Amino acid sequence: MKKIVIGNWKMNPATIKEAEVLFKGITKNQKDFKNIDVAICAPYIYLPNLLKIKSRKVAVGAEDAYYEEVGAYTGNVSAKMLSVLKVKYCIVGHSERRAMGETDEMCNKKINALLKVGITPVLCVGEKTRDESHEYLNIVKKQIENSLQGVSKNALSKIIIAYEPVWAIGSNAVREVETFECQEMILYIKKVIATISSPSIAHSVRVIYGGSVHPQNSLELITNGGVDGFLVGRDSLDVKKFLNIIKNGGVK
Ligand code: PGA
Repeated sequence: MKKIVIGNWKMNPATIKEAEVLFKGITKNQKDFKNIDVAICAPYIYLPNLLKIKSRKVAVGAEDAYYEEVGAYTGNVSAKMLSVLKVKYCIVGHSERRAMGETDEMCNKKINALLKVGITPVLCVGEKTRDESHEYLNIVKKQIENSLQGVSKNALSKIIIAYEPVWAIGSNAVREVETFECQEMILYIKKVIATISSPSIAHSVRVIYGGSVHPQNSLELITNGGVDGFLVGRDSLDVKKFLNIIKNGGVK
């Protein structure tokens, strides 16, 4: 299966000019992207400009989308509006949005709305803490089952799932993920998908990892962690580091 590396710029960089420079820094090197899909998920306001920059191998995505098509929803942007722009991917249920009240039910509606307009949802799941009784497995299972409820088997194979343990994300991370922890969870997620669909569909769903991914651990995680790619926060804002992660992502 072709691996994918997705940058999650979050609320960065500070200006549209910087966003263009950063994006061009990546596209300039796209001839080196072998066996790998690459995408940048950026703030809404930057999307039209990034989409104007010619890039055969770097897709553009959004960081969230609202499930209603149009109407009185102040501050929201619909999946339908993003599809008109020709956005290819959209993050759903990132832990930073879940912390602001996003529920599995909302993720479910967003996923359905995105699939309807042909945008690939990148569903983020992950536990807040690790516990010895392995409750974290149940937490992730519930997030997946609830968020994908009612999604057809055919549509399921188009979704990307990002395992993002909250304790490993961002500059406040408790620690980095261990390879075996990542491998266990990726396998477990594929098993959960197989149960709600079929083993062959589970096989076709890309399950990627996010949370303090950097050039050094990306090679180890892609080689031994069972991941189908990465969702990269901080290091997607640094062209050199992000290019290194892309290079490692295509190794296996
Ligand atoms: P990080 O963020 O790479 O900065 O830990 C990852 C994410 O939140 O998607």
